[in-house]
Amino acid sequence: MGWFSPDMQTMDDLFMHTLQDIYYAEHQIQKSLPDMIEKASDAELKKGFRMHLKQTKGHIKRLDQAFKKLKTKPSGTKCPAIDGIIEEANDIASEIDDKMVLNAALIAAAQAVEHYEITRYGTLVAWAKMLGSPDVAKLLAMNLKEEKATDKKLGDIAKRKINRKAMLRRKPSPDAVERAENAMLVAASGIPAI
Ligand SMILES: [Fe+2]
Ligand SMILES: [Fe+2]
Repeated sequence: MGWFSPDMQTMDDLFMHTLQDIYYAEHQIQKSLPDMIEKASDAELKKGFRMHLKQTKGHIKRLDQAFKKLKTKPSGTKCPAIDGIIEEANDIASEIDDKMVLNAALIAAAQAVEHYEITRYGTLVAWAKMLGSPDVAKLLAMNLKEEKATDKKLGDIAKRKINRKAMLRRKPSPDAVERAENAMLVAASGIPAI
């Protein structure tokens, strides 16, 4: 089904398309999380990703229930947005050698994924209510709540330690190197610095 094709004309069609979009996205996320767990070198981050993999499996189960309530066979529709986010994350991760910087990159990528899920579930909850499917809205709202909590946890761990540790790996700026060299020259000459 393509955007603006004759197959998608009503809000019911649009809702179903978006539900299939997030179904596809959750499966792609489920596939990519084991790789992120393996790449993360911080124990707390690894544990967080492991927990979210478990939650993601639960999200798929809730989506299966939502499809069932709508009397539709669960299916996904290719979502170039989530594919792009995951592809970019893999590209960046493959270019980083430093473990601490890689942890910071993994969190940034995971938060991009969470934000994508949050926007999709936020829309779906609103539409499910509007279309008169409160049971479906409830299931989707449970997924939304867990995505928001994960996003917050990732943000907290980044601020509390991961970003700080990654910052310690910064190369000194040319200015800082020049200042250090001048200070060494002054010290070696015995001339008191002004
Ligand atoms: Fe999810
Ligand atoms: Fe998620």
